[in-house]
Amino acid sequence: MMPVATMLSNCNAHATDDHLRENSHRTAVPYGLVQISKRMRHPPPDWDVMHWAGRTQGMRIAVVNGQDHRGSSYHMGRILADKLAADEDITELFLPHDLPHFCRGCYTCLEDETRCPYWDEKKTILDAMEEADLLIFTSPNYCLAPSGAMKSFLDMMFDYWVVHRPKGWMFGKRAVVLCTSAGASCRKAMRPIRDSLFFWGVPYIRTYGLAVQAAGWNNVSARKKEEIERTLTRLASKLSCDRPPRIGIGTRLVFSVMRGMHAAGKDSSPAEGRYWEEQGWLGKGRPWKTV
Ligand SMILES: Cc1cc2nc3c(=O)[nH]c(=O)nc-3n(C[C@H](O)[C@H](O)[C@H](O)COP(=O)(O)O)c2cc1C
Repeated sequence: MMPVATMLSNCNAHATDDHLRENSHRTAVPYGLVQISKRMRHPPPDWDVMHWAGRTQGMRIAVVNGQDHRGSSYHMGRILADKLAADEDITELFLPHDLPHFCRGCYTCLEDETRCPYWDEKKTILDAMEEADLLIFTSPNYCLAPSGAMKSFLDMMFDYWVVHRPKGWMFGKRAVVLCTSAGASCRKAMRPIRDSLFFWGVPYIRTYGLAVQAAGWNNVSARKKEEIERTLTRLASKLSCDRPPRIGIGTRLVFSVMRGMHAAGKDSSPAEGRYWEEQGWLGKGRPWKTV
């Protein structure tokens, strides 16, 4: 394999195009490979009729990109989204552009989420996630971890962990975490994203990481792009949202332990105890029964 340093310097000539952010993040832009992926698109058989929770339209997707440019990780997310939903049903968010802050550690969110100093931006992302059937998270591998922007976003969502005040709608979502690296494994970069999704209550999470051996999408080899195309086509065929995701034993167990804790009054704030009570979760209510 080519040494990473040589490979990165070979890629520099093309890096500018690949890394330039477009003016509008929420409109689909034609790319070479996106065009190819559209030709090869295999929508699931139940593509146009989705029934659960009163739904009768196609799938809606929120893509949270942990990077502010359209590189390899972005393209993976876009290719998958394009296989499953129409342009107008795909919402793309870019970090840090859409949330250019770090968590201050002020803990005000534990009392009242709207008192987060960055609530407006946070709410925009939350709303997009709530409206979506499928959540896609993309991040490059930065020093064997997700990008700092992605990590910062995850930090700012800590009040939605099951231990605090999870959003009931999270228990009805499916999620995919996508990552690219130059050569290292993507496992450690995807793990914190996967962990957050799990502890937010998302019951169905799939991950796919690939060492693309390139600093930008333009430099990813045709062989790697074919591999990405094949894997994401397979993944897309398993992602139909015609019924709520199955709630696994891990999610049930974590919820049950946290419920016991809140029932015993071990809350991080009085608002937390009230929240669990109001949701009916201290009685027989369960978030996955209402999504
Ligand atoms: C700050 C930084 C740190 C990186 N750290 C690693 C690393 O630890 N291991 C690795 O294999 N690649 C590393 N890379 C390379 C990227 O993960 C790789 O080029 C990735 O495909 C870029 O994705 P993107 O095109 O979506 O930005 C790093 C790149 C940057 C900019």
